[in-house]
Amino acid sequence: MSPPSGVAHGVVRYDAATLRAFAADVIGALGSYPEHAEIVARHLVLANLVGHDSHGVFRLPQYADFRDRGHVDPAARPTVERETAATAVVDGHDAWGHAVAEFATELAAAKAGRAGMAAVGVRNAFHVGRAGAYAVMLAERGLIAQLFCSAEGSSFIAPWGGAERRLATNPIAIAVPTGGEPILVDMTTSVVAEGKVKLARTAGRELPPGWILDKDGEPSTDPEALYAGGTLLPLGGSVAHKGYGLSVIVDLLGSVLTGGAPGAMGPVLHNHFLLQALDPAAFIDRGAMQAMQERYFAYLRSSRTRAGVTEILLPGEPERRSTAERQANGIPLDAGVIRSLDELCARLSVPPLADR
Ligand SMILES: NC(=O)c1ccc[n+]([C@@H]2O[C@H](COP(=O)([O-])OP(=O)(O)OC[C@H]3O[C@@H](n4cnc5c(N)ncnc54)[C@H](O)[C@@H]3O)[C@@H](O)[C@H]2O)c1
Repeated sequence: MSPPSGVAHGVVRYDAATLRAFAADVIGALGSYPEHAEIVARHLVLANLVGHDSHGVFRLPQYADFRDRGHVDPAARPTVERETAATAVVDGHDAWGHAVAEFATELAAAKAGRAGMAAVGVRNAFHVGRAGAYAVMLAERGLIAQLFCSAEGSSFIAPWGGAERRLATNPIAIAVPTGGEPILVDMTTSVVAEGKVKLARTAGRELPPGWILDKDGEPSTDPEALYAGGTLLPLGGSVAHKGYGLSVIVDLLGSVLTGGAPGAMGPVLHNHFLLQALDPAAFIDRGAMQAMQERYFAYLRSSRTRAGVTEILLPGEPERRSTAERQANGIPLDAGVIRSLDELCARLSVPPLADR
């Protein structure tokens, strides 16, 4: 029995290792290779650790439904379809997206190590989860990484000026190595990830204003309104034509270039993406880069703060702080999330969290 430490307000905290073993059992029970189950579980729990619960173990019931509906093939493995010294195209064949993305990440690292840079296109992966995880894997090996992730079959956003869903939340993740922890920008080109609305719905919470419109195009804070024909807003508020533009680029690079189908054009939940890796040593001496980075970061942090803000953070820092806190105190799961996991365990004959 693991430490459900701190039961408060319907929230139970679990340690990461317990949740990883639990998630691997569930993914394994769906008919997966043990190594794929381990990778998916590791990424789900990493998402919880960094504070993006929308991409954590909360997803397991949804993943099981998608397995039942044939969107993910647990018996598939990715293959390389085209290749040059610095490029490759990978077909995921509907395998678990986290496993396909790790495969592509290893390929990009090996090619960039030899050629100084690499671009790997991936089509037909199931949901890869947090795009930033793969960018950070490359940055931890000293490479600059950019990932443009297009989502087929998951359309929630209208094009600028439109009133119908045509685009997915299409995240961009960019990581840059430093002398310490990498800088990470990992963000949807919509206001937030759709999973955050779904998580709020499961937990029975209202949304902050400015996230969604209802089916009539009116602002709403009710998560149900999104699933009743509403839309998620593009990034940018009153200048959301810019978020719309970024999202179109993600579809062109992530889907069209790799042979996938963007947005709502395909029937299956897929992630198609372009992953680029760049060795900074091809441009500048590492020591000189890090010295200027340090001066630059200090300069950013030296800004006077606005009322109510205590300090300037660098991109990627909130995730690192969350990781430290949750490694120390456990990962909080809402009662609603635990209930949905219990139901899944009963269906798959997997021991529930309470028995671990
Ligand atoms: N696989 C998919 O199809 C898919 C689709 C959509 C989103 N996602 C994932 O969902 C996750 C959440 O995306 P999001 O856009 O909702 O996240 P978000 O709005 O929380 O933005 C996260 C980014 O903002 C930075 N940030 C946050 N607060 C900051 C601060 N105070 N100072 C400096 N930087 C700060 C973070 O470090 C991070 O880079 C991402 O990991 C994304 O990859 C995946």
